[in-house]
Amino acid sequence: LAEVAPGCYALRVAARPFAEGDSVLLLDRAGNRRLIRLRAGGRVHTHKGYLEHDRLIGDADGLVLRTSTGSVYTAVRPRLSDYVLEMPRNTAIVYPKDVGIILVWADVYPGARVLEAGLGSGSLTLALLRAVGPSGEVTVYEARGEFIAPALANINGFGEAPGNLLVRERDIYDGIEERELDRLILDVPEPWRVVPHAVEALRLGGIAAFYSPSIIQVQQTVQALQESSAFGYVESLEVFYRPWQIKGQAVRPVQQMVSHTAFLTFARRLATSAMPPLPVPSEEDTNAGLSDEAADPS
Ligand SMILES: C[S@@+](CC[C@H](N)C(=O)[O-])C[C@H]1O[C@@H](n2cnc3c(N)ncnc32)[C@H](O)[C@@H]1O
Repeated sequence: LAEVAPGCYALRVAARPFAEGDSVLLLDRAGNRRLIRLRAGGRVHTHKGYLEHDRLIGDADGLVLRTSTGSVYTAVRPRLSDYVLEMPRNTAIVYPKDVGIILVWADVYPGARVLEAGLGSGSLTLALLRAVGPSGEVTVYEARGEFIAPALANINGFGEAPGNLLVRERDIYDGIEERELDRLILDVPEPWRVVPHAVEALRLGGIAAFYSPSIIQVQQTVQALQESSAFGYVESLEVFYRPWQIKGQAVRPVQQMVSHTAFLTFARRLATSAMPPLPVPSEEDTNAGLSDEAADPS
C-alpha cells in the first residue's frame, strides 16, 4: 500500500516491462497490425524492414521504435479485443463488439459460476474468465475434441494459464451435469435443444445468453424459452459497430465494416410456478411505437 498523496493510499501495480513470451502488438503509422510473441534472439520481418525482439524485451509498453529500414512502429500489449482478432482460429469467433454486450447484458460478475458451449477458438472464454475473475469458475463444453488443444493454446497465449477453467469434451444437447449455475452462455448451432437442460442447470434468477448468426435460430430459441415457462425477460437484439474516419476534412464512417455477426438473446430463469405462459403479442403490441401512419397505412 503506497501513500500516493497526503492521506491517500492506493495499491500500486507497476506497468510490467515486456518480457520473453509476452504477446506484443506492432502497429505501423497506417494502422496495420501484427501480433508477435517475444523470443530472445527473435526477429520479426515486416514489409518495411525487420525488428529484433531483443530491442523490446525489458522495455516499456507503448515503445516507439524503427525497423532496419527506418519505418516507425509502436509496440503495445494487445487488448483482449486485439488479441482475439489476431489469434489462430479453427472456428468463427464471437467478435469483441458482441462480447462486450454479452458480458453486460448477461451480467457476468466476479465470482460467477458460468457454463459455456462451445469452446470454438476460445474468444468468448477469454472474456468470461476475465469477467468472473479468480473467484469465479468457467466450465466449457466442446463437442469436437480436436478444437480443444488449439483453443487452450489461444487462451494460455494471452497470459497466465487460468486455474478456474474446466473444458469438457461433451455434447451439450445430451444434457448439463452442473447445477446451480449463475450463467449459461451458448454459441452452438441448435441452442433451442439446450433450453430444457438450462431449466435444470441454472439457479433461479440465473441468466442464459444465446449467440446465433441466423434469425431462424433466434425464433426457435425464443419459442422454446416461451414454451418452457421457466424463463422470463426474454430479449433479442443485435449490435452495430460502425467506426468513423477522422482525417482532415474526410470525416465520415469507414467505407467497409462487418455488417453482420450474430443476434443475441438473453433470458432470465424464473420460478416456474410463478410464471404464467407469456401472452402472444397482439396486433396492437406489434404496432406499438410505430407512428399512426406507419401502423395504419390506410
Ligand atoms: C462458432 S464456434 C464457437 C466459437 C466461440 N464462441 C469463440 O468465441 O471462439 C461453435 C463451437 O461449438 C461447438 N459445438 C457445436 N455443437 C456443440 C454441442 N452440441 N455441444 C458442444 N459444443 C458444440 C463446435 O464444435 C464449435 O467449436
